[in-house]
Formats: sequence, structure tokens, C-alpha cells
Amino acid sequence: MLEITVNFMLTLVVLAALSLLYYQVRTGVPPMPSTFRERKTASQFLGELSLPSSAVVYELGCGWGSLLSHLRMRHPELRYVGFEISLLPFFFSKIRFWGDKKVEIKRADFLNSNFTEADVVICYLMRATMKKLEHHIQSHCLSVRKGQPLILITLAFWLENKKPLRITSYEPGVAVYEFSPL
Ligand SMILES: C[S@@+](CC[C@H](N)C(=O)[O-])C[C@H]1O[C@@H](n2cnc3c(N)ncnc32)[C@H](O)[C@@H]1O
Repeated sequence: MLEITVNFMLTLVVLAALSLLYYQVRTGVPPMPSTFRERKTASQFLGELSLPSSAVVYELGCGWGSLLSHLRMRHPELRYVGFEISLLPFFFSKIRFWGDKKVEIKRADFLNSNFTEADVVICYLMRATMKKLEHHIQSHCLSVRKGQPLILITLAFWLENKKPLRITSYEPGVAVYEFSPL
């Protein structure tokens, strides 16, 4: 009986590791949480935007929900949508925010969303994914925004072709960009 239980547990651990590895290879981004310093600065920059309480914040690749939970606690009036494609972090975040009416966790590729509902988009990704995101915003998101600008807050990695409105003096830090609608 003990042997069966141990084998079962080992199989679960191996499957979990394979799942994490699969999505990391597929997206090029590991499910690594941001640092407390980055979260604190992102939350401060979000607060400085003085958003109305009806504002919606999208987190692209919310992982295990650490940044989302930090923002949710400090800005409880806002509504949040977290996108996560990797199965285990997705389920973890789904359970973490279960029953929270202000937070929705979606298992989806954020590059298939055109962020129509979002006032602010926030992300902690990798350099190559930031390039894809910049191209995605310019070519698919701005034309559907009906006069509403899009604010992007990025942790650790910057955009290549856009000047930030605000950036930390330390690196890797946090930057804020504004995209005008087309
Ligand atoms: C570095 S983690 C960030 C975790 C969290 N945002 C934080 O700051 O603590 C990035 C996450 O983005 C997810 N991801 C990468 N590309 C994605 C995509 N196209 N759609 C949805 N999730 C994606 C990865 O699976 C990973 O969990």
C-alpha cells in the first residue's frame, strides 16, 4: 500500500514538473513571481494613475497570483482580470481568488485578447514576449479602443520602441507606458 502511495505521489510530482516545463518552453516565460520591491513599485505607480473605482486592470501572465494579490490588497476598489496559460499556476491562482468578485482568473493566451475592457495592463514577462506584446498592442488593440488610452505597466523588462512615461532608477524595476488610441 505504502509503495503504491509513494509511486502515485512521485508520478504526480513528475507530471507537475513536466507541465511547468512544457508551458515554460511554449511561452518562453517561467512562472517566477516578481520581487516584493517590484510589486510595491508597481502598486505605487498604479495608485498614482488615480483611476476611477470602475477601472479594470489586466494582469498578463498572473502566474501563482503574487502580484495580483498585492495589488488587490492595496487597491481593493479596482477590478482585476488575470490571464494565465500554464495549468498549475492557473489552478493555483483560480483557487487563491475563489469567490473574490473583484478578481477573475482566465486560462487563456493573452495574445488572443485585444484588451478592450482594460484601462491598465500590467505584466512581468521576458524580453522576447515583451516584443510580441508591443507588436500585439500596436497592431490589434489600439484600433478597438474607442478613444480610450491604454496604460501599460511593465516589471523588469521594457518596450523597445516606446519611451516610458515613468521608470524606476533601479533595474530591473518598473516602467509605465501610455498608448494613445488610433
Ligand atoms: C514571470 S511569471 C509572472 C508571475 C506574476 N505576474 C508575478 O509577477 O508574480 C509570467 C507568467 O506568464 C505566463 N505567460 C507567458 N506567456 C503567456 C501567454 N501568452 N498567455 C498567458 N500566460 C502567459 C507564464 O506561464 C508565467 O506563469
